[in-house]
Amino acid sequence: MFKSKFLKGVDLSYKHAVYTLSNGVKIPVVGFGTWQVKDGNEAYLSVMEALKVGYRHIDTAEAYRNEESVGRAIKDSGIPREELFITTKLWNQHGTYEEAKEALENSLKRLGLNYVDLYIIHWPHPLAHRGNSTKRNSEVYRAMEDAYLEGKIRSIGVSNFKVHHLEDLLKTARIKPMVNQIFVNPSDQQKDVVEFNEKHDILTEAYSPLGTGKIFGVTQLEEIANKYNKTIGQVVLRWSLDHGYLPLPKSVTPSRIKENLGLFDFKLDALDIEIIDNLYGAFGLALDPDTADF
Ligand SMILES: NC(=O)c1ccc[n+]([C@@H]2O[C@H](COP(=O)([O-])OP(=O)(O)OC[C@H]3O[C@@H](n4cnc5c(N)ncnc54)[C@H](OP(=O)(O)O)[C@@H]3O)[C@@H](O)[C@H]2O)c1
Repeated sequence: MFKSKFLKGVDLSYKHAVYTLSNGVKIPVVGFGTWQVKDGNEAYLSVMEALKVGYRHIDTAEAYRNEESVGRAIKDSGIPREELFITTKLWNQHGTYEEAKEALENSLKRLGLNYVDLYIIHWPHPLAHRGNSTKRNSEVYRAMEDAYLEGKIRSIGVSNFKVHHLEDLLKTARIKPMVNQIFVNPSDQQKDVVEFNEKHDILTEAYSPLGTGKIFGVTQLEEIANKYNKTIGQVVLRWSLDHGYLPLPKSVTPSRIKENLGLFDFKLDALDIEIIDNLYGAFGLALDPDTADF
């Protein structure tokens, strides 16, 4: 069974467990996802709820168009900034050093923050830069490295990067990315990318850990959940942690927001992990960033 080296020394029975990134920055092992969470009340109230029940790590993006509401919830929660881990992402149209600098400033402004904990290149091969994306990634990454050195971002990440995108980026990067956020759940673990991440000390964040809601119809998962007296969501999120991924569950439903943090009082037997590992393809595979139509 695959076990990430980021699990070393991490106690997954502790609800405030953290992984340590390659630059020493601590990152809470579960993050709250906000894709498709509408700006305004929906984003504000769900992030408020998440912070109330114990999440300390929020994942947003310029493209989610909810940074303002996320930022308002962060501020109104009253939780000291240094106890929170906030991620946002650079969207696809930005292609130059200057554009990337400006995009980060705009995200910070919308969030009402003077730094983020993680800033990520959202997609490696966007339509707007197809044919030229290696140069584009290297330029925007340079702006991110400078922002890192200036203290505006505490760590640097990429998302949806396949092995060849990472290999290209590493040729010009001065600072290795600390995170690669990719589609990882029982239906697709992208083993080649995860292996490359591990080899280069890059933590794998697992987006769509619940298959954007598609895991809930899988019968094998229901049987395992009953065995542990847990829900399907909890079993799959714990499976993600048991491998050493960092799941980012999204929900706008208060009961589910709480449920999805109920992961630290049980662990799965090796046999059940194997059954879940074998669900490859059960509810779809990762989108190929090289052919995605955006
Ligand atoms: N970097 C990228 O390109 C990228 C791409 C996709 C996602 N992400 C990140 O990863 C996060 C999560 O991925 P995702 O949004 O695709 O979805 P997900 O977390 O895999 O699944 C969310 C869906 O499952 C439902 N759900 C959540 N908890 C549940 C539970 N306990 N029981 C039953 N249903 C439950 C939610 O419904 P309700 O909300 O209605 O409760 C929603 O429909 C995103 O929000 C985003 O932060 C990143």
